[in-house]
Amino acid sequence: MSPQISLGAGLVLALATLSHASNSTSRPAVSLLFQNDGNWTNYANLPSALLFYEAANYEDALAACKANNETLLNADAVKPCVFLLVIHVTATQTHSLAKQFTYLEYLEDANRLSTYWIAEGKTVTPLISSSIPSPLTPKIMKLPFLCTNSAPHTTKVDTDFLTSPKSVVTSKGVTFTGTRDHLTFRFMGIPYAQPPVGPLRFQYPQPFNGTQVDATFFKPVCLQFAWFGSDEFGLNPWGNSEDCLTLHVYTPYIPSNPPSKDGPALKPVLFWIHGGGNTQGTGADATFDGGSLVSRTDSVVVTIDHRLNIFGYLGIDDTIKGNYAIADKIAALQWVQDNIAAFGGDPERVCIFGQSAGGFSVIELVKSPKAKGLFHAAISQSGGSGSTTNYTTAAAAVVPTLNLFCPSTGAERLKCLQALPADTILNITNTVTSWGPVIDGVYTLDDTVHQVSQGPTAVNSVHYMAGFMPEEGQSLLGETIAANMTIFDPSSLIGAELGAKVLASGLWKPSAGFTPYNASVNVYTDNALTCPAEEMITAAAAAKTFPSLWVYEMQRAYGLSYFNPYGLCSFPVGEAEPPYYRCHSGDLYEVFGTYYIFDQPMRNSHDIAFGPLVQDLWSSFARTGNPNPPTAYLIARGYDTTRDALSKWTWPQYAAKKPQMALLQYPGVGVADALPDVQKCAVLDS
Ligand SMILES: *[C@@H]1O[C@H](CO)[C@@H](O)[C@H](O)[C@H]1NC(C)=O
Ligand SMILES: *[C@@H]1O[C@H](CO)[C@@H](O)[C@H](O)[C@H]1NC(C)=O
Ligand SMILES: *[C@@H]1O[C@H](CO)[C@@H](O)[C@H](O)[C@H]1NC(C)=O
Ligand SMILES: *[C@@H]1O[C@H](CO)[C@@H](O)[C@H](O)[C@H]1NC(C)=O
Ligand SMILES: *[C@@H]1O[C@H](CO)[C@@H](O)[C@H](O)[C@H]1NC(C)=O
Ligand SMILES: *[C@@H]1O[C@H](CO)[C@@H](O)[C@H](O)[C@H]1NC(C)=O
Ligand SMILES: *[C@@H]1O[C@H](CO)[C@@H](O)[C@H](O)[C@H]1NC(C)=O
Ligand SMILES: *[C@@H]1O[C@H](CO)[C@@H](O)[C@H](O)[C@H]1NC(C)=O
Repeated sequence: MSPQISLGAGLVLALATLSHASNSTSRPAVSLLFQNDGNWTNYANLPSALLFYEAANYEDALAACKANNETLLNADAVKPCVFLLVIHVTATQTHSLAKQFTYLEYLEDANRLSTYWIAEGKTVTPLISSSIPSPLTPKIMKLPFLCTNSAPHTTKVDTDFLTSPKSVVTSKGVTFTGTRDHLTFRFMGIPYAQPPVGPLRFQYPQPFNGTQVDATFFKPVCLQFAWFGSDEFGLNPWGNSEDCLTLHVYTPYIPSNPPSKDGPALKPVLFWIHGGGNTQGTGADATFDGGSLVSRTDSVVVTIDHRLNIFGYLGIDDTIKGNYAIADKIAALQWVQDNIAAFGGDPERVCIFGQSAGGFSVIELVKSPKAKGLFHAAISQSGGSGSTTNYTTAAAAVVPTLNLFCPSTGAERLKCLQALPADTILNITNTVTSWGPVIDGVYTLDDTVHQVSQGPTAVNSVHYMAGFMPEEGQSLLGETIAANMTIFDPSSLIGAELGAKVLASGLWKPSAGFTPYNASVNVYTDNALTCPAEEMITAAAAAKTFPSLWVYEMQRAYGLSYFNPYGLCSFPVGEAEPPYYRCHSGDLYEVFGTYYIFDQPMRNSHDIAFGPLVQDLWSSFARTGNPNPPTAYLIARGYDTTRDALSKWTWPQYAAKKPQMALLQYPGVGVADALPDVQKCAVLDS
């Protein structure tokens, strides 16, 4: 027996702390509190805190903060704003965390009388607005407590998190060590399948079987060329590898381990699939860094990496079946079903969303019987109607090139291709540039419009949202056409046959306000994305394929700093909003709020209201299948700009008889009574 036993009461405490610490898998529930008002230039100046829900006495609370390399929160950060004004703390700082408590009350994770330990042995009851921090509570009282969160704000693509504070999650026997920053807990580069290399190349993903995951940094992203193929554009400091099946989890809340029924409810999950034409891109792209979206929406954000180009899509026969990329996305969704609860996410409220080829992917998953039950809502941003091919067409495009390296067939060809260096395989995508799903009867069954027109039993029938950027072909065309062109020649963009119909229709006739360049962008946009999406929407509405259907057009955009041809995808800082192109990908900063990672300025104050508005709509959709957030929620969160925008407006469902669409803008959100360019689509679809 240790001599210390005789020391009495103090020791009981020490032992309790010790036994708690000795079980490394047992951890209390914690939330990261940050009031995101959308003003991204100011995030670093606002307070951030950790809320530990499990009641502890003062000394234990202090020790728990310390174990997280933090201290108990100073009273100034939580005092209600009326009081704070008196003691000269800025109103925004005060208001900031105070609103977190009205939201906790809305969630029923706190009530009027909830009292928390803060610094210097004081307590605070934030929802009693007249209350001042009390130094009178006996220190043996057990109360939830508030710690500082001093982890730095993530403001760079190549942020090094190695010295950031650690956060640990255990799920299904696997320990995940992640980190946190100023806005979110973050777990980066989690493998969700075995490396698809050697004999696993051109095979469906196999389950990950490790037990320890270091999720404090991003891993190399999938093999590709262009923006993320090297660090030439400063976007990918992590390198590339064929071993790339990872996902990234950003969460505002880590539940207790073991889980408790009394803890806060699990959060909706926003599961993001990046774009890049099925040939490029990564979920680790800092454009999709989850902190801003997580803190604004109180959701768990998951972004994924999946095989691209030839590695993800080579599909030529019943030995090399293709659709590996779809199988990867499904494996990542299965990982979410199995593990996301331990990260605070609700596996029964998973909303898949993606843009461009990520929007195609959303459609592929909605169509795939293999993805049944893995998600509950879906948003396809600029996803057209997806794309499919068949083995005959796919093989004709690539087999001649494969034959240069592996002039065999069947199992022999597969073995030969698995033995080639990954770079040799990747180089084939320089010759064969178009990759996508193949109808295999397993992962992909049918052409999209035909499949969705068969009604709810033909697809994974979930709440469905789709939408457009009005001039998105502009950035897709890039600088392949000249902005000062003088002749409108559609055949060079969409083929001779369609081009002739377009000219004959007279619908794209250039005029003073509609230059040949404007007409070219428009016809390309309609043909590539808008009209295919409209065909799908129309077919789904007619067959009532989805329990609810929502359509939007973005009236506001903010061109990506690294994808802004001729500088036309944005407007100058300080101007109200002169005409500009709302380009493809001009919605990404708005949906993720990540301007600050790319040093992007606020153009006018509507920028800091619009992104949060979109995020509030998207997350409401993820929560309930309806993008209209309850007013009580907006009030509890202090989201006044969104409340103002939505005070006289409701996003109507799209229906065959009433084909209404939301026009998203700030201020001045609107509703259109028809899809865009319906007449022009009739020409292009003829
Ligand atoms: C630690 O806690 C977990 C979860 O309650 C429990 O399953 C495990 O047996 C504990 N381990 C030890 C060493 O007490
Ligand atoms: C945004 O924050 C900056 C401080 O970084 C402040 O100067 C500016 O007034 C804020 N803008 C709005 C519209 O709140
Ligand atoms: C606290 O800091 C120490 C020293 O830098 C580090 O070893 C430890 O992992 C940190 N703890 C947490 C929870 O981050
Ligand atoms: C995981 O799977 C790989 C490949 O099948 C195998 O080599 C390895 O031994 C497995 N590891 C464990 C811990 O089962
Ligand atoms: C494959 O697709 C091509 C192009 O759409 C089509 O012409 C062909 O008939 C299809 N082949 C089969 C076997 O379905
Ligand atoms: C891939 O293509 C590049 C550029 O054409 C060439 O330099 C490189 O040697 C090729 N790599 C392999 C492994 O074939
Ligand atoms: C179009 O602009 C390019 C450079 O941007 C210039 O070289 C060319 O002369 C211009 N053409 C016309 C017809 O103005
Ligand atoms: C037409 O193109 C010009 C750039 O050449 C652009 O500034 C303008 O906004 C476009 N107008 C329309 C109606 O698309």
